[in-house]
Amino acid sequence: MYPVLAATALSPNVTRLVVEAPRIAQVRQPGQFVIVRRGPDAERIPLTIADADAEAGTITLVIQAVGKSTMDLVEVAPGDSIADVVGPLGSPTELLTTGHAVCVGGGVGTAVVHPIAQGLAALGVPVTSVIGGRSREWVIFEEELRRYGPVLVCTDDGSYGRHGFVTDALRDLLDEGGVDHVYAVGPVPMMKAVSALTLPYKVPTLVSLNAIMVDGTGMCGGCRVSIGGVSKYACVDGPEFDAHQVDFGLLADRLTTYRDFEQAAVARRTACLLPALAEAAAR
Ligand code: NAD
Ligand code: FES
Repeated sequence: MYPVLAATALSPNVTRLVVEAPRIAQVRQPGQFVIVRRGPDAERIPLTIADADAEAGTITLVIQAVGKSTMDLVEVAPGDSIADVVGPLGSPTELLTTGHAVCVGGGVGTAVVHPIAQGLAALGVPVTSVIGGRSREWVIFEEELRRYGPVLVCTDDGSYGRHGFVTDALRDLLDEGGVDHVYAVGPVPMMKAVSALTLPYKVPTLVSLNAIMVDGTGMCGGCRVSIGGVSKYACVDGPEFDAHQVDFGLLADRLTTYRDFEQAAVARRTACLLPALAEAAAR
């Protein structure tokens, strides 16, 4: 069992958990993830290790509650335990050691880009972060990323930072010149847009693909993606790939495979909770 030491709400549906997992904390590298099951019968959820403290023996996981399993997971409180935390899984990020890196994080993807910025800064690489959210309350990990270099914040509605998408701020940086590498993590349309943007500037770009995963060991084929026309498994060959080679259309299609099942599971969960919620409201 893996004890939960802290649970903090970062935005309306994003929660940060600090979990005791000493062996993982000691060996994890930027870009790697764990597969988590809250209980023995729960669904497996792949989560990037957003941060770790080897001395304290903890890892930080950031979860967006969008489906039944993630909604169940974010209900854990300090003192509770998670049944399984398997990892670290996946290939570590290929960190450049010279030049200027730009780390782009969209929404909850900002937590995924955090360990990359951390790893680059540890190597002495200058890092600029560009992060975005729908509005101010959806911007996460700004303070953490400021430890590693300047942070440009964008919001879709202009309620904080620059009004616009992360790609607007990235375009200005590319026009200024001096960007040697881009790392981008976020929703598929964002990563696709970043890829299309950096291509004409010939700036190497890595994206982290949030493919559906089951076993996380390359056995089930669930996380198949197409990179340069070749099938790869995000869990073992990735999750990071050359953005300019990614078939984002296939990724987006495969992410919808279980949408109807997921919606039905959320509806059942809500129906089960309604009597308890009504009772609590009546008290
Ligand atoms: P969101 O939809 O609120 O978007 C976050 C930011 O991304 C926006 O504020 C904007 O700056 C940028 N963005 C979005 N669409 C864009 C576009 N078409 N062009 C340019 N920029 C764009 O994000 P969210 O709700 O926090 O993210 C949810 C999605 O992120 C889910 O689909 C989830 O699966 C995915 N996700 C991906 C990873 C990963 O490793 N790639 C990790 C976690 C979550
Ligand atoms: Fe099964 Fe990658 S999750 S092959």
